[in-house]
Amino acid sequence: MTLRFARRMERLGTESAFEVLAQARALEAAGQPMVHLEIGEPDFDTPANIVEAGCRAMREGATHYTPAAGLPQARAAIAKAVEARGGPPVDPAEVVVVPGSKNVLAFALLALIEPGDEVILPDPGYPIYRSLVNFIGAVPRPVPLREARAFRLDVEELAALITPKTRMIIVNSPHNPTGGVLTDEDLDQIAALAVEHDLVVVSDEIYSQICFEPGPRPLRARPGMAERTVVLDGLSKTYAMCGWRLGFGVMPPALAERMATLLINSSSCAAAFTQLAAVEALQAPESQAAVEMMVLEFRRRRDVLVDGLSRLPGVRCHRPAASFYAFPNITGTGLDGRTLARRLMHEAGVALLPGEAFGAQGAGYLRLAYTVSTDQIGDALERMGAFFEAVVPGR
Ligand SMILES: Cc1ncc(COP(=O)(O)O)c(C=O)c1O
Repeated sequence: MTLRFARRMERLGTESAFEVLAQARALEAAGQPMVHLEIGEPDFDTPANIVEAGCRAMREGATHYTPAAGLPQARAAIAKAVEARGGPPVDPAEVVVVPGSKNVLAFALLALIEPGDEVILPDPGYPIYRSLVNFIGAVPRPVPLREARAFRLDVEELAALITPKTRMIIVNSPHNPTGGVLTDEDLDQIAALAVEHDLVVVSDEIYSQICFEPGPRPLRARPGMAERTVVLDGLSKTYAMCGWRLGFGVMPPALAERMATLLINSSSCAAAFTQLAAVEALQAPESQAAVEMMVLEFRRRRDVLVDGLSRLPGVRCHRPAASFYAFPNITGTGLDGRTLARRLMHEAGVALLPGEAFGAQGAGYLRLAYTVSTDQIGDALERMGAFFEAVVPGR
């Protein structure tokens, strides 16, 4: 039988990071040495106290379904942690626990957006935003992020994109793929626009705890925002827990109830023992000490990578204040991002992503995740250096 797929599947995108990872692993299996800078997954082990809490939870019987929106103690721990970032108190009824934070966006779109509605999203940006917006039949309206503004969106450009059909803005700060961070003033202005035009804002804060400088107060903390903000966050990046699949959202209680119903209709709930491990992650002082150590290490790696990239012929690299991504400008090399990414993987053994994988505005850039040791970063820089010396014109 020939399967006939639903039309909507044509509108579903993907994350090239996973595809490039598979290709790089295939080359490695065939004997090609490879430094992996393509996937945004911390290389650290999950802190031991969190692993122990997960194992203990399993041994003690946390192997059953939980309430769809999450265990009360997990929702309470998340509410406290988000509240501690600043802004109005968070009621556990505003928290929904999900098996991976992408669900928060998928469910927010399903619950709030009709086909034909417009959703403003960053370009370059995390490709899942555009994919899911297209999938539900809504219209993505990309707002460009430019290197000249340290990859902060221009609020005037954002305002110009708002039409009577706009229902939602997706904001991601600190930002994947650029590491850009919005300022307090940017967030004030975005909040004012959202209130003026009665828009929901999905605020993807998954990198908010991986900051090398003090960041702004959260968007949700601004007047009129708690009632229209969906905070999207999770444990994957902060606590090196990507494989545990634990994300969460903070949102108005009426939306949280709809999300719980969507969970009942999809995964039922996040794994019980993972939720209990999340309580340990968020509350134990050892976990916070481990996060501090990881952030310090990311900062060290950032400096090694950004300094090294800036020395390559034809390359210029903004120094990001947060996240674990570098987004160098490669227009001076005379090669486009896709060609360069492909050749670096095949000829130099360095796997990374072309900026185009994150939207049209990503053309002329590469994205490198510094989720490997400084030794491996040094190795990648050496190989890139040899490659660039050989292929960049004028050298
Ligand atoms: C900006 C952004 N949001 C959300 C996610 C999803 O993270 P998870 O599904 O592990 O919670 C990622 C992962 O790469 C991301 O980069």
